[in-house]
Amino acid sequence: MFSPETYAKRRNKLQSDIGSGIILLPGNDDSGMNYQDNVYPFRQDSSFLYFAGIDRQGLTFVIDVDNNREILFGDELTIEEIMWTGPVDSLAAQAARAGITEIQPLSRLSDFLTGCISSKQTVHFLLPYRADNTIKLSAWLGIPASMIPQRVSQKLIHAIIRQRAIKTAEEVEQIEIAVNTTIDMQLKAMELAAEGVTETEIAGRLQAVAIAAGGNISFPVILTANGQFLHNHPHRTLLQNGQLVLCDCGAENEMRYAGDLTRTHPVNKKFTTAQREIYDIVYHAYKAAADAVKPGIRYKDVHLLACEQLAEGLIALGLMKGNAKEAVAAGAHTLFFPCGLGHMLGLDIHDMENLGEEYVGYTNTLQKSTAFGLKSLRLGRELEEGFVLTIEPGIYFNPLLTESWQAVGKCASFINYEKLAPYATFGGVRLEDNFLITADGSRLLGRPFARTATEIENLIAL
Ligand code: GLY
Ligand code: MN
Ligand code: MN
Repeated sequence: MFSPETYAKRRNKLQSDIGSGIILLPGNDDSGMNYQDNVYPFRQDSSFLYFAGIDRQGLTFVIDVDNNREILFGDELTIEEIMWTGPVDSLAAQAARAGITEIQPLSRLSDFLTGCISSKQTVHFLLPYRADNTIKLSAWLGIPASMIPQRVSQKLIHAIIRQRAIKTAEEVEQIEIAVNTTIDMQLKAMELAAEGVTETEIAGRLQAVAIAAGGNISFPVILTANGQFLHNHPHRTLLQNGQLVLCDCGAENEMRYAGDLTRTHPVNKKFTTAQREIYDIVYHAYKAAADAVKPGIRYKDVHLLACEQLAEGLIALGLMKGNAKEAVAAGAHTLFFPCGLGHMLGLDIHDMENLGEEYVGYTNTLQKSTAFGLKSLRLGRELEEGFVLTIEPGIYFNPLLTESWQAVGKCASFINYEKLAPYATFGGVRLEDNFLITADGSRLLGRPFARTATEIENLIAL
C-alpha cells in the first residue's frame, strides 16, 4: 500500500470535487466459479483500491461529503473464518494503513443509506460491472436494477477520471514494476517458443511468471500463431517453424498496477524476408507514434499518423497503392489495422474502462468516431503530463476480412487484392510498449528490451 497520506489526499480532492452528498464505492466480493466456495482469483475494484487502498473482500466505502465523514463498512473475520485460512490482518489495521478510522459493520450500511436518502442527500455511485454489486445498489438505494445505469453520477465519473488519469511518481514506479515483470513474461515466451510446443503450454508458463512475481496476469495471455485474429486465445495446436508468435501479455503487480506489452517473433528464431518487411513497417509506425506523443497532442492524431506510416509502408511494398493520406482518410488501411493505436494504463489494463470509454478517452469536444477502425480507438483526447498509455500498432492479414472486402471491391483503388494471396497464412505482427507522458514528450517504461526485428533475432538466438 501507499502511505495513509496518499489515500487521504486523494479522498480530500475527491470530496472537494464532488462538493456535496454521499460518495458510495462498493468493493468487490469473491465470485464462485462452479460453486460458491470455489472462487475466481479475487480482484478488488480499482476505484475502491485507489481511494480506500484495501485489497480485501466484503467492504464498501462511503464518504459523507456533507458531514466530512469517511466510513468503511465491513466486518472483522470471525474465528470460524480464520480457522480455515490462518490469521489475517485485522480490518482496523488495514483501514489505519489507508488513513481510515471509522469502521462500521456491513449490516448497518443499508440503514445508513436509507437515512441519507430520507434526508435528501444525493448518493453518487459508479456504474457497476458485476451483477452482485448491481443487486446490492438496487437494494440499498431502492432503485430497480434496470434503472441503475441511468442513475449513475456523471459528476463522480468525471472527478475520478480526472484524478486517476494523472499518475503520480509513486504510481509510475508501481506500473514500471509490472512492466518489468511483463518483460520477464515476454522473455519466457521467446525462450519456450519452438516447433512442436503448444500455445497453451507457453501461455501457462507466462502466467506462472506473473504469479511468482507477487501479483497475477493483468488480462488473459494472448499467445498465438494466429495474430491476425486480435482476440485469439491460446490453443493446444503445435507451433510450426515458419510461423510468427504474437505474444500480448501483462503482469499486474502486488499493488494491482498493470503492464501490457506485445512482441512478435519467429518460431524458428529467424524472420523470413516477408516477415521482416512487415515487421519493419510496424516498427516505423511505432517509432513515429512514440516520437510524437507529448502533452497537447491529440492521441487520435497520433493514431492517424501511425496509420499513415503503416499505409506508406504497405504502398512501398505493393500491397496498397495511391496516396497514404488519402488511403487513411478512406479507411483503406483498416483492412490491415482494424483497431486502435492504444489506451490508458494504470490500475486496469484498459485503465478505467468501466467508467466509460467515451469519458476516459474522449471529451465533449472530441467524441468517439463510429467509423470502422476508429470506433476501436479507446483513447482519442489531448494528452496530458502524467498520462500512462500504450502504443501498439500492428499489421494483420485477416483472411476473413480480406475475403469480405474483396467480394464487394471495398477500397479497391487503394488495395492490391491480387497481391494478398501469399499473405493468407502470414498471421499478424504487433509491437506494444508502455509510455509515461512527460512535460516535454514521453518516457518509455520498463528496462531496456528488444523491439526491432534485429534486436529480437539477436535476443532469441542467445
Ligand atoms: N490485450 C490488450 C491490449 O493490448 O490492449
Ligand atoms: Mn496488449
Ligand atoms: Mn494494450
